[in-house]
Amino acid sequence: MIYDKHIFICTNQRAEGATRKSCGEAHGLEIVDSFKKILKEKQLAIKVRAQKAGCLDICDYGQTLVVYPEGVFYVGVTLGDVEEIINEHIINNRVVTRLLLETKKQK
Ligand code: FES
Repeated sequence: MIYDKHIFICTNQRAEGATRKSCGEAHGLEIVDSFKKILKEKQLAIKVRAQKAGCLDICDYGQTLVVYPEGVFYVGVTLGDVEEIINEHIINNRVVTRLLLETKKQK
């Protein structure tokens, strides 16, 4: 199966007391479930896949995910951002600038 877009969502959970942040603590699994649910509701699940991923090594900005084939990294993603990413990026090919890794690095 070749997907039009493939979303990898970090769900890494570090051991208690670890010095680096973990996307698992930032609701990574809930965000995966939310992507899957909304993609299904919008009948996009055949062309777009969202799945769990291990650490994407961009741990300091909060919940991280990457959308391929573009290779666009979003950070600090919350449950409330999922529908916007789907509507803007996945459906309309418009990057959600405020969540881009590059945008967060500039702050
Ligand atoms: S723990 Fe999520 S990017 Fe590293």
